[in-house]
Amino acid sequence: MIKFSCKNADSMVIGVDNGLNLQEEFNNYRDKIAEIIFDLNQRKDKNGQKLQWMNLAYNDETLWYVKEYAAMVKDRFENILVLGIGGSALGGLALTEALLKPYWNFLSEEQRDGLPRIFFLDNIDPDSMNGLLEALDLEKTLVNVITKSGDTAETMAQFMIVKDILKNKLGDSYRYNIVATTDKKTGILRQISEQEGYKTFVVPDDVGGRFSVFSAVGLLPCALVGLDIDEIINGVKDMDLLLKNPDIDSNIAAQNALIHYLMDVKMSKNLSVMMPYSSRLRYVSDWYVQLWAESLGKNIDKNGNSIQVGPTPIKALGATDQHSQIQLYNEGPNNKVINFVRVENFDTTLEIPNIFEYTGIGYLGGKTLNQLMDAEADSTKVSLSDCSRPTVTITLDKVDCYHVAQLLYLLEIQTAIAGELYNIDAFNQPGVEQSKNYTYALMGRIGYEESANMLQERMAQLV
Ligand code: PA5
Repeated sequence: MIKFSCKNADSMVIGVDNGLNLQEEFNNYRDKIAEIIFDLNQRKDKNGQKLQWMNLAYNDETLWYVKEYAAMVKDRFENILVLGIGGSALGGLALTEALLKPYWNFLSEEQRDGLPRIFFLDNIDPDSMNGLLEALDLEKTLVNVITKSGDTAETMAQFMIVKDILKNKLGDSYRYNIVATTDKKTGILRQISEQEGYKTFVVPDDVGGRFSVFSAVGLLPCALVGLDIDEIINGVKDMDLLLKNPDIDSNIAAQNALIHYLMDVKMSKNLSVMMPYSSRLRYVSDWYVQLWAESLGKNIDKNGNSIQVGPTPIKALGATDQHSQIQLYNEGPNNKVINFVRVENFDTTLEIPNIFEYTGIGYLGGKTLNQLMDAEADSTKVSLSDCSRPTVTITLDKVDCYHVAQLLYLLEIQTAIAGELYNIDAFNQPGVEQSKNYTYALMGRIGYEESANMLQERMAQLV
């Protein structure tokens, strides 16, 4: 199982001005945390609570259909192209980047055991989209278009471009190159899929985009490139069992949620840095940034009071960002909680050859990159602690399906608990919806004329 250490956020280690008396705080919040965990587990089965993501690991039917479809299309495509944005792309991207062999798309077909390459288009930059379309043979590409609402402008614009090319190349059989993941009833993509006869998967009700990674949204891309989605689900189930424990002394999601919450409200440390010491986990940071930002950045609490809360998430990568961000973290404002994610066992042990006598680098010879990575993480932890900067450490045994799934589920539950501590709705995103609606208005969508006029006036006033 994943390990968690929070000693370096304790006042005993980093002093009373910057650290928390953790045992005292855990005792103070013991009942509150137990109540939150009990309440989340009670509400998760009720409609409209937006907590169905807590049940995704137990949806055997989806797992079965995803595996069946992946087996059916196996050997038929050279590439998988995922179209989606935000929660519809980041989960699949984080999982596949972490779990496939590094540089997967550069490997030969033989090195990939005949499995397809995978690409995520999560932006609408015309140059990069055009570049990718020029690089891919779309006839040999399975397009997985993912949008829960079924009408997000970015995703649907991408889809219309790709569909047009596919139809021109393949005629009516183009539909076999498309699989749509969307709401079961509503949205334009659902309508199109039914009219045109696409294979579809469902984003279940009450599962927000950023919590959808263990639905078909994240599992299908993984299965299409041959990842063991049973192991992913096993990891989630085991972590779910652990995190159902209402005792804060045993519940690591509750501990980290409380640390972040108290560091923010008591000590004004409202930046949360996610810093894995593993390149394969770099997109886990992107996924975490969305999860934490969209869930916790809110301007109204559950009682309708105006508040404006939300710790700002930041992504970092060890050891790379020791050479960019750590100067700021050591010496700049002491306003952050730094989350290290460490890996105990890399798949590879890479030895540094003993080829130079120079004293300045000779010490590296005969050591491994693994040792160097550990030394980098240890030294950064110590130097941050010397500067009274709070850090916590999450340790994975390995970067594999089981442990990475555990990490993501841990962070989801941690986010849900943090939302309850802030007394906000962690599962809505009115700020995102507003900018989506403004985009629709500016692009001339029917029904948005009033907004369009207002926006034109506002834009004329702005510099
Ligand atoms: O987490 C969320 O709800 C959002 O980030 C959505 O995932 C994102 O806006 C994309 O929405 P949709 O899946 O409806 O296209």
